[in-house]
Amino acid sequence: MDFCGKLILAPLAGITDTTFRRLCRECGAGVVVTEMVSAKGLLMQPARSMRYLEFDPAERPIGAQLFGAVPEEIGEAAAAIAELGFDFVDINMGCPVRKVTGGGSGAALLSDSSLCGRIVSEAVRQSRIPVTAKIRSGFAKGSECFLEVAEEAFSAGAAAVTLHPRTRNQMFSGDADWSQIARLKAAFPDRVVIGNGDVRRPGDAARMVAETGCDAVMIGRAALGNPWIFGEDFGTGHPAFPTPSPESRRALILRHGAEVFARHGAIGIVEMRKHLAWYSRGIPGAASFRAELVRVASFEAFRDAVERLF
Ligand SMILES: Cc1cc2nc3c(=O)[nH]c(=O)nc-3n(C[C@H](O)[C@H](O)[C@H](O)COP(=O)(O)O)c2cc1C
Repeated sequence: MDFCGKLILAPLAGITDTTFRRLCRECGAGVVVTEMVSAKGLLMQPARSMRYLEFDPAERPIGAQLFGAVPEEIGEAAAAIAELGFDFVDINMGCPVRKVTGGGSGAALLSDSSLCGRIVSEAVRQSRIPVTAKIRSGFAKGSECFLEVAEEAFSAGAAAVTLHPRTRNQMFSGDADWSQIARLKAAFPDRVVIGNGDVRRPGDAARMVAETGCDAVMIGRAALGNPWIFGEDFGTGHPAFPTPSPESRRALILRHGAEVFARHGAIGIVEMRKHLAWYSRGIPGAASFRAELVRVASFEAFRDAVERLF
């Protein structure tokens, strides 16, 4: 599994489903990941977890992200992920929300780096596909532990470590501290380090690589309403893909809605409202457009809204 030199779509709960991931791949993302899935949930109620784990071969290379706190459970769930045909499994060690940290998972793992190592080790042992870890700087300011956690993860066989350099307590406030990505790469020059956090506009990914030496860049929020962000040439910061015309943007958005509608019917169209709001950012008249989105409840209404927007 080669991550180097790639722009990676970050896992985003409730957002990065199979349709959105495939559109991001088409726009230039080199690797995609599912949203986080509970390891315990996957083992206890596999059918319920499957809606997060369906994928199209066109998305490859694709990873599935697991969260959990029990090494044996993560290992068993990672084996199930391998069985489903995923190219790698990513372990969530950074989710800050209480529902996840309360059970000892996500960012709560950062307070026990040796547990992080045991989790990666079990996932490697049981899945036999590459295992990656996605971490934050630490739980709280003053107790940054990303170097220790990465050391444990790499020693346990992690193929890559992604760092979102904010603490758990920061949630999404303040700026991502890219100097911590540079420190991680300097500490592990021969390992794959993926930088993440606040890559917002063209040129940012190339700047992150130049400033930190990271091997690949993961983009989350900036892809919302803008899968074209993955069209950047990683090395130069210049577009590798032609800037999309309004017609091609409109065509992609229509395809996004049509595919979601085909999968999920009218409920999918309601889900598309948030994507439409994101797609409309920066377009004249976007505020009044967004105010009308509550009325978008059918595929026809969705299509009319997109036609009006462009
Ligand atoms: C709505 C939302 C959902 C997220 N869901 C996940 C998730 O399921 N797993 C995960 O590891 N990180 C998740 N994250 C964190 C992102 O993957 C990423 O690390 C973070 O947003 C920083 O990158 P960015 O500045 O490019 O957005 C989520 C973030 C947001 C805003």
